[in-house]
Amino acid sequence: MEKQRVATLTMDDGRTIELPILSGTLGPDVLDIHNIGKLGLFTYDPAFFATASCTSAITYIDGDAGLLYYRGYPIEQLAEKSDFLEVCYLLLNGELPSAAQKAEFSGFITKHTMVHDQLARFFNGFRRDAHPMAVMVGVVGALSAFYHDSLDINNSQHREISAHRLLAKVPTLAAMAYKYNVGEPFMYPKNKFGYVENFLYMMFGTPTEEYVPNPVLVRALERIFILHADHEQNASTSTVRLAGSSGANPFACVASGIAALWGPAHGGANEAALKMLEEIGDVSRVKDYVQGVKDKKYKLMGFGHRVYKNMDPRAAVMRQTCYEVLKELKLESNKLFELAMELEKTALSDPYFIERKLYPNVDFYSGIVLRAIGIPTSMFTVIFAVARTIGWVSQWNEMIADADHKIGRPRQLYRGAVKRDFVPVNKRR
Ligand code: ACO
Repeated sequence: MEKQRVATLTMDDGRTIELPILSGTLGPDVLDIHNIGKLGLFTYDPAFFATASCTSAITYIDGDAGLLYYRGYPIEQLAEKSDFLEVCYLLLNGELPSAAQKAEFSGFITKHTMVHDQLARFFNGFRRDAHPMAVMVGVVGALSAFYHDSLDINNSQHREISAHRLLAKVPTLAAMAYKYNVGEPFMYPKNKFGYVENFLYMMFGTPTEEYVPNPVLVRALERIFILHADHEQNASTSTVRLAGSSGANPFACVASGIAALWGPAHGGANEAALKMLEEIGDVSRVKDYVQGVKDKKYKLMGFGHRVYKNMDPRAAVMRQTCYEVLKELKLESNKLFELAMELEKTALSDPYFIERKLYPNVDFYSGIVLRAIGIPTSMFTVIFAVARTIGWVSQWNEMIADADHKIGRPRQLYRGAVKRDFVPVNKRR
């Protein structure tokens, strides 16, 4: 048997402890600090810059090389050759489906896209102008109240049914959030359409007109879904895992993921990137804008990433998709696209960005594609949530399936007041 490699930690008082060095199938080795408590110590790593929070076999990222694999398959290959439901099957089950498995899976998801009719009433409780992410946090969490028949998280079949329900129903709820906002009737899903076509139909179809999906736009949205399907232990996925570690049901956990995704540093970035491009307005203003970024007046949205210190591989696919969509829609001279390309060129040749290894991330171009498809800005993060639902639920399932999983409970470095005695209000200064 191979000898366990260890690192030895020596304290300033001479005490030592051996820390096992763990190796994954890919990526850097990891120090197992489990036993450090024996020295009466905790480790300190706010924002998880150097901490692996779990073991996972789902997604691998090499940020320095700009690589992203789902279950070992490079994202570029999946974006080019696969489709979203197949990628969902892969993330959830670990392998690509056979033809029969694929047909069965697609059929099952298609037949579960309707939501309980009672759910439609939840929408009336929201203002029409509510942000659709606010609506999504509420209505996805509300799914917990509808499917009591399969909420035993220790039962793998129940977990599978819940995963399928989430995958099937979140797009329906997302389209309903949009329809509620614009004051149009909800569109029931149609089983003749594929997953992405159906979503576009529920968004843009009306009872008065036949809806004919544009295959180029369907393919573009399919790619957006594939590119956003999972991204290992990002903020929202870690939120889902932490919520799930207490035994909470998957619908509530995914609602917590949606809440975490909402912020502009995470899922809100493509909305922010598009707003930024509109604010810049013209190619002639790019240099001044970049100067403002360097002067730390604001950030370049859609740029930079905690893990990628090279081109985000998803951004390259997105740039190509952007080009294809604009060509299809005869919008080749799209001002925002020209601006984005000029901004990318200017930033990538500037020492500020080079030294900090800041490259475009997936959100830099996805906003332009979504806008061209006709998706309103306020729905951008919702689209991300629809796509990421499979990642969240796959990661949640992986965690719960591990019989040794425990409730997640970080510790802290306390720097508050030391013990002091209570003073009655009339004696306080
Ligand atoms: N524009 C300008 N400067 C930046 C940017 C940016 N977008 N991102 C990072 N920097 C600078 C920081 O100011 C810092 O500079 P300093 O060393 O002079 O202080 C340095 O680069 C390191 O940045 P951090 O903030 O420490 O990097 P961190 O890993 O914490 O942040 C993040 C990553 C949040 C994504 C950041 O790059 C950012 O805010 N980007 C813009 C928002 C965005 O596009 N988010 C989408 C992420 S991808 C996704 O969620 C799908």
